[in-house]
Amino acid sequence: MKIGVIGTGTMGSGIAQVFIERGYDVILNGISESEIKNGLNIIDKNLDRKVKKEKITLKDKEDILKRIDTCLEINELKECDIVIEAIVENIELKKELFKKLDEIVKEDAILATNTSSLSITEIALSTKRPDKVIGMHFFNPAPVMKLVEIIQGIASSKETVDKVNEICIQISKDSVMVKEAPGFVVNRILIPMINEAIGILGDGIATNEEIDKAMKLGAGHPMGPLELSDLIGNDVVLFIMEILHEEFGDDKYRPHTLLKKMVRGNLLGRKTKNGFYKY
Ligand code: CAA
Repeated sequence: MKIGVIGTGTMGSGIAQVFIERGYDVILNGISESEIKNGLNIIDKNLDRKVKKEKITLKDKEDILKRIDTCLEINELKECDIVIEAIVENIELKKELFKKLDEIVKEDAILATNTSSLSITEIALSTKRPDKVIGMHFFNPAPVMKLVEIIQGIASSKETVDKVNEICIQISKDSVMVKEAPGFVVNRILIPMINEAIGILGDGIATNEEIDKAMKLGAGHPMGPLELSDLIGNDVVLFIMEILHEEFGDDKYRPHTLLKKMVRGNLLGRKTKNGFYKY
């Protein structure tokens, strides 16, 4: 089975790493040579860390990396049995991409999106195979987090769900089946919680360290909500809050003004080396 991954950011490269580590051949598509290089660097560093910890040997690392190929043209994904898209969260770009993919991949190929909150149904309708379009939502860092949300758009078939579920088992991920709805399951719970933590900070009730410590020690979370927001990207957190707010029309999902201010000020978290913490 050949896997195509589109997007070389944290999620695209992380997803590609998951598959090559489990023995699959992957073609990673990026928008430029330098973006592809960045994606490969992320994978290389992650594998190096595993070599240092003696979880894999240097030879294992070399063998894993042999299974990844890269390309700039999506035409080169035509032999793939499944293509997983992990580009920016822009519905128009995704629809355009899926329309093109639909024209080039095999008739029975599955087209999956890693979108964190956009409509699978809407993306699927840009293709002539809506039954084979599905959400495959990985979590950051993808090589570590166990879960994949399998999201069924209105037309996704049971056969497609079953095939994707089987793939998840093969790559040692656990899955949950979700019917399409804004934020699916995890983000509908997680992102408003982060927004609330930002509200507590904005109201001057506790410092960033105190809020994170409270949730780590008081609720057993591996990371506090503010450090997690920095990991996800504060722009992504804002984007998901805006989708929840717009789709449900419920003010309980209103993004906190501090979150908006930080995104306007380019304090996006780890990726800009500045967010609720400095990196
Ligand atoms: N990439 C790859 N591997 C990583 C990594 C990264 N960015 N960060 C850590 N790791 C690996 C480490 O190498 C280590 O591997 P081994 O167990 O093989 O040694 C393992 O993860 C644990 O790392 P650490 O010991 O350094 O640190 P930790 O125990 O604190 O774990 C963590 C780090 C896994 C990130 C943990 O803090 C955690 O689970 N945090 C919560 C992450 C989370 O909630 N993610 C979901 C975000 S929401 C989302 O992604 C959806 C969306 O649409 C926005």
